[in-house]
Amino acid sequence: MTVEIIPKNYISGSLTVPGDKSISHRAAILAAIAEGITEISGFLPAEDTMSTVNCLRQLGVEAEIGEITRIHGRGLHGLLPPQKPLNCGNSGTTMRLLAGLLAGQVFDSVLIGDESLQKRPMARVIAPLELMGAKIKSKKEKAPMEITGSRLKGINYQMPLHSAQVKSAILLASLYAKGKTTVHDLAPGMTRNHTEELLKHFGHPNPLKAREIRIPGDFSSAAFFIVLGLLLAKDGLTIENVGLNPTRTGLLTALCAMGGNIQISGNSILVRKSDLTATNIDKNLAPLMIDEIPIFTIAAAFATGTTTISGAAELAHKESNRIQAMTSELTKLGVNISATADGMIIHGGAPLKGANLDSHNDHRIAMSLAIAATAADGASTLKNADCIKISYPDFFSVIPRLTRNPQM
Ligand code: S3P
Repeated sequence: MTVEIIPKNYISGSLTVPGDKSISHRAAILAAIAEGITEISGFLPAEDTMSTVNCLRQLGVEAEIGEITRIHGRGLHGLLPPQKPLNCGNSGTTMRLLAGLLAGQVFDSVLIGDESLQKRPMARVIAPLELMGAKIKSKKEKAPMEITGSRLKGINYQMPLHSAQVKSAILLASLYAKGKTTVHDLAPGMTRNHTEELLKHFGHPNPLKAREIRIPGDFSSAAFFIVLGLLLAKDGLTIENVGLNPTRTGLLTALCAMGGNIQISGNSILVRKSDLTATNIDKNLAPLMIDEIPIFTIAAAFATGTTTISGAAELAHKESNRIQAMTSELTKLGVNISATADGMIIHGGAPLKGANLDSHNDHRIAMSLAIAATAADGASTLKNADCIKISYPDFFSVIPRLTRNPQM
């Protein structure tokens, strides 16, 4: 799908964003191995999270997705052998977390994924899981992964990189391992802690029991409208019911450092059009905003001065190479931007001009470019825009609702 994006010069109002993707994956997985029926409100019904749900269904789990999502837990040892390969689609979280869940089962399984997922590194989960005794055959440490169910033992593991997916895979495997498992972050507090928090919620270290779960709006989805509001919302834009876990909100720190007018009240974020100035993102902040760096580059493109992003080499291993993707697409919009090995350098402040853009089949690139094009001069087109369905299926219907007020 190619969409045409007509620039706007004013937006206002309020919105809510869909449920948190990271929490939705984990809530479904832990509910599947808990005892009883877990009721979840705010579950994200998007392509990535449905990849997790459909894999769980193939493992014998009954799941009703709706206003209230119900996952019928099978207990820790109740999963059934899958009849065919488990398709993780585009979702790295599904593949890496399920690798941990499946390594210690009494049956074998195969994890497959789409073209993008088959290119993404899996060594980061294979290595620690093998230390626990897992048997995993892969194609040069990439998907497909053939997992032979094995007896696992606990490990004391120092992660070599910032990755919540790796940490979560190890923690899920540890539920089936003999002895204690400890995972050390590269630096404390720098990877999202949703797995740990949910494990506690389900009763760990006691047997996991069904619980009620309320999932807040996804900060990573709110991020697009936070930046759009800073560019266009003269009278303010409010994003309500957003999860503000500090391991996820590095973008707010960065935007405030740029002079962004942002007010937080409870779980609401109020943003107003602001004159932004350049800032630098380094290795101490980048991990806390890793999924928001594509949309951050749009703020940097409109900010006066030179913004340097470093410590973000992981961007090259996401759904697309996000350093290359943002550099090439922003160049088309007239932005003076260059790629580095672990980030980008953006000379901001010049107006953006409409262009023919491509999402690189990456949902976060698609939405970041749509925001850039909305604030640019002149119409743009965005090719391969369907990929927004990975995390935010209604994304394109939101902007027209925020521009109903008379233009100013
Ligand atoms: C995620 C962790 C992050 C993030 C990804 C979702 C998760 O990846 O980029 O979009 O839900 O655990 P890494 O674990 O590779 O850092």
